[in-house]
Amino acid sequence: MARQQWSSKTVFVLAAVGSAVGLGNVWRFPYLAGRYGGGAFLIPYLLAFVLMATPLLILELAIGQRMQRGPIKSLRQMHPAFGGIGLIAVISAFLVVAYYAVVMAWCLIYLIRSLGVAWADDPQGYFFGQVLQISDGVGQWGGFNLPILAALVAVWLAIYFCIWQGPKSVGKVVLYTVPLPVVVMAVLFLRSLTLPGFWQGWRLYLTPVWSAMLSPEVWTAAAAQAFLTLSVAFAIMLTYASYKQPNEDIVKSSWTTAIADLAISLFAGFVVFAVLGYMAWTTSSTVEEVTTSGPGLAFVVFPQALSLMPLPGLFSALFFFMLLTLGIDSAFSLVEPAIAAWLDLKPGTKGTHIAGWACLAAFAVGTLYTTRAGLYFLDIVDHFVTTYNAIVVALGMAILGGWVFGAEALRRYVNEVSDWQVGRWWNISIKWVVPIVLAILLATQLSTDLRTPYEGYPAWALAIGWATVLVPLGLGLWMVRGGQEVLLEAAPPEQDGTPQ
Ligand code: PFF
Repeated sequence: MARQQWSSKTVFVLAAVGSAVGLGNVWRFPYLAGRYGGGAFLIPYLLAFVLMATPLLILELAIGQRMQRGPIKSLRQMHPAFGGIGLIAVISAFLVVAYYAVVMAWCLIYLIRSLGVAWADDPQGYFFGQVLQISDGVGQWGGFNLPILAALVAVWLAIYFCIWQGPKSVGKVVLYTVPLPVVVMAVLFLRSLTLPGFWQGWRLYLTPVWSAMLSPEVWTAAAAQAFLTLSVAFAIMLTYASYKQPNEDIVKSSWTTAIADLAISLFAGFVVFAVLGYMAWTTSSTVEEVTTSGPGLAFVVFPQALSLMPLPGLFSALFFFMLLTLGIDSAFSLVEPAIAAWLDLKPGTKGTHIAGWACLAAFAVGTLYTTRAGLYFLDIVDHFVTTYNAIVVALGMAILGGWVFGAEALRRYVNEVSDWQVGRWWNISIKWVVPIVLAILLATQLSTDLRTPYEGYPAWALAIGWATVLVPLGLGLWMVRGGQEVLLEAAPPEQDGTPQ
């Protein structure tokens, strides 16, 4: 059976940008910048973005496009011992999308309630009290929050109908979901420039706090965010590239995606911090005092900004619609690795069925986050999966690409198919910078997490976090030790036209 392909090169770039630019840019990046001291976060982030994440993006595009297979098979084809890395990537993307969709469900609730701007008096109380109805601690589940559960069903239905026909339907959706949010973001940015006090917020955003940069945690968070925002390390871009022709451009697409993604993150940061500056100005406090960090930031600060605008109902509706359109093309890109891997194993199966099962399974896992303790679990799983799993997969891919397959061989392939060329610096990044920095970050983060419980959560709750790391790791190892034969037995013999 022929693999599906993107309908054009532009559609691929749109899909890649759509995957990269997501809630991570508007929701996660600003709250991390807030949590880790504004400007202190920016420098590690920029360094990690340019020196590690973008080279990894080029690597993933090269592997996917050259191997023409989903994550597990692509990596296994390059070396049999690396199929397990593909499996860890697939499971991790799946774990992420389970909570990512829940954040989209919050957006949907806000969108529906926009017209009344119900949060105007107390955005913080509204988010935690009314929308999340958050319990007092992770131990108090408090039952399901039905509006969020219902919104989650709607979000998954939307995701399913975007991906049910694979690259064909995705190609149509991204034509709208990529440009639209950018326009809305520009409007919000211009509005934030007219808020008194915005400058104070920007100062915090842009002033480096050198002491914070000594904390390894800041560097790990920055590196992990750089990977996530570019959708690398979970084999998403690898999967998308596997739907390209083997001789299509790689370098220009990578830089276009990276620059678009970086610009949107920085943009969102300016808006969020301008509003923080304004809030400090109206309440006569310092920007640090009004900075609520953590996953709630975008749901507290942005709504506040919206309620200040003329026609707040309209702007609020636009804003949350923007978040949903930003999120949806990232969400379905996170489901794609699992679908591609499954189709590799059972090529005869109908893509629409696999997509349906994948969505249903991710929805089922996501119901955990629709309980009243959901935000706590979301925070824990997000921390563990996006740090450890991303580091392990990126490390594995860099070793495979850089050392086992050979960075120079891959670079030659990349340059052969691309208009722009990639220099030898890329070999150094993939062979040395990425593995060494990631090994150090892994060791230091591990020692931090073993010594101090993350955000003070109880051990049993953190055990769930560790399980999201150790179970995929165990399955990956099992696959390397022969388990893959069990999985692959069912697959018909390969008709492999991949270049070697
Ligand atoms: N790059 C997208 C974002 O930043 O929102 C999607 C994404 C990919 C999110 C991988 C999280 C992740 F772990």
